[in-house]
Amino acid sequence: MRKPVIAGNWKMYKTAAETQSFLKTFAPLVAGVNKAEVVVCPPFVNLPAAVESARGTNIEIGAQDVYWLKEGAYTGEVSAPMLSAIDCRWVIVGHSERRQYFGETDETVLKKTIAALDAGLTPIVCVGERLEQREGGTTTAVLSAQFSGGLAALAPEQFARLVIAYEPVWAIGTGKTATPEIAAEAHAFIRDQIRGKFGADIAESCRILYGGSVKPDNIKALMAQPELDGALVGGASLDPASFASIVHY
Ligand code: PGA
Repeated sequence: MRKPVIAGNWKMYKTAAETQSFLKTFAPLVAGVNKAEVVVCPPFVNLPAAVESARGTNIEIGAQDVYWLKEGAYTGEVSAPMLSAIDCRWVIVGHSERRQYFGETDETVLKKTIAALDAGLTPIVCVGERLEQREGGTTTAVLSAQFSGGLAALAPEQFARLVIAYEPVWAIGTGKTATPEIAAEAHAFIRDQIRGKFGADIAESCRILYGGSVKPDNIKALMAQPELDGALVGGASLDPASFASIVHY
């Protein structure tokens, strides 16, 4: 049985005070939820405040990016051991916005994933096709290239500890959710790739989240697909009531 994960990607939203106030309202709304792991990923600067506010609750805190080296002269970067030292437990790696605006490649995604795993963090590794790729019929080629160019280089015991997020880029922040069937088809394709490389057991236990315009009113239909093991939620995770209703799917 794969335990679902519902993770909120706050992107570049909220101050530390707003983070604390969100968690104060949100924690009681999701207290006692056991069917899914609940993760909130605020901007770096708010991580300590988030970890403090989430202490003693069923909410875990994640970062939105990480650098692959432990320390050094890399102005502006944050390392995986620095994240685990403050009890941050998760990290999003390779989000399409990082790929699009900040030069992230399958190769840097792999390095960051390894660094996160080495520090005991759970990486949420994002993959997904852009609109022109879907329309050009190359979705599976893109997904397969992202897998073989990056994650396939991991050792099986490393791969077994990560979570994948399938996020079709055309569905992110656009209000256009993939239909549950389109999402499930992509998830099944990704799971097939995993099976081919790492075997049936690892493929069956790997959690694949869906991301892209997930909202309180579409989460139920998405989660009704057995291939979907949770969600990575952007916009709809910024409001406590909205995110709580997604967590309760
Ligand atoms: P969205 O973002 O839910 O606002 O579409 C999802 C994401 O980028 O992770």
